Amino acid sequence: MAGAGRVVVVTGASRGVGYGIGKELASRMPGATTYLTTRQPQLETLDNIMRRDIGVAADNARFRFMDLKDKRSIGKFVDIVKRRHNRVDILVNNAAVYHKPPASFIKGDAPIHFREVEEIVKTNYLGLKTITEAFIPFMAQGSRIINISSHFAQFKAFNENDDNSKKLVEKFTDPDLTLAQLDDLMKSYVQSIKTGSWSAAGWPDCAYTVTKIAVNVYTRLMQQQFDAGNSKQVTINSLCPGTMHSKMRLSKEETISVADSADIASYLATLHMSGVGDCSLPLEETPRGKVLWHDLTLLDEHKTSSLEASN
Ligand SMILES: NC(=O)c1ccc[n+]([C@@H]2O[C@H](COP(=O)([O-])OP(=O)(O)OC[C@H]3O[C@@H](n4cnc5c(N)ncnc54)[C@H](OP(=O)(O)O)[C@@H]3O)[C@@H](O)[C@H]2O)c1
Repeated sequence: MAGAGRVVVVTGASRGVGYGIGKELASRMPGATTYLTTRQPQLETLDNIMRRDIGVAADNARFRFMDLKDKRSIGKFVDIVKRRHNRVDILVNNAAVYHKPPASFIKGDAPIHFREVEEIVKTNYLGLKTITEAFIPFMAQGSRIINISSHFAQFKAFNENDDNSKKLVEKFTDPDLTLAQLDDLMKSYVQSIKTGSWSAAGWPDCAYTVTKIAVNVYTRLMQQQFDAGNSKQVTINSLCPGTMHSKMRLSKEETISVADSADIASYLATLHMSGVGDCSLPLEETPRGKVLWHDLTLLDEHKTSSLEASN
């Protein structure tokens, strides 16, 4: 059976894009064990929905509890996968949270704003890093990591006429940036939210954008680290899913369906994977450490016009 012996993990797979990717990968690789994570307690209900949707291909797919904001919860989940399989072939870091930044900031908003930003940073950046780094020691030879990013993760969110903003962009794009320096940048961001000085420090208002940019930069740095230090040929990329977001205004032409997005993510996740993946793209052209648009072109090549939070 396709994918036999392999292990797939998709975070935040209870609904939306994550569910779509989990469903697609489990269907393409019915022999693999596919772990789908959620914070919902009704795992059996989710298992049953998956079975209803893909039938016997769901035999080896199972939902497990995991909260990215809680290191212990991440540890417990990773431990289950380690003990049962001691390998991961595909990790899709899909789980994320979005809170719309307030339209205008008054003093009374500060505590709520800080709590929301903290949740976004803990989930989208720190949680993603923690689970990735927990899996790395037992990633299989030729394994893949896909970080689900966003159309919002573009440096144009920073004010190009502001010196501090320009300095921040220079730091994020510095080819010599280290993982520790990226962490420091994110710490300084959270601190600037705490003190209410983020605008003066050059940060944009949207925390989601900041975290997804950090994930894209993390992707680049991790690929460098994999290429420098390990022989397992791990590939890591960021992918913008291209789907409509309930809280963001994107024009129809700029979005694709969840099913198409899941198809693209699954294609990327399985490229050249023996017995499973497409091999029409020459191996040397397989993206590594890149940020990809939903048509798999590079994010830098795109200029969207209507990136705007709604409601
Ligand atoms: N156009 C764009 O750029 C665009 C559009 C849409 C989405 N996206 C990205 O695509 C991904 C999926 O988006 P979506 O629209 O499908 O989102 P969604 O419907 O809100 O689903 C988010 C998933 O993340 C999980 N999640 C949230 N907080 C979590 C936490 N602390 N720990 C573990 N899991 C958590 C949720 O799981 P439970 O609630 O079950 O725990 C849920 O399954 C996200 O990374 C999002 O940022 C980008």
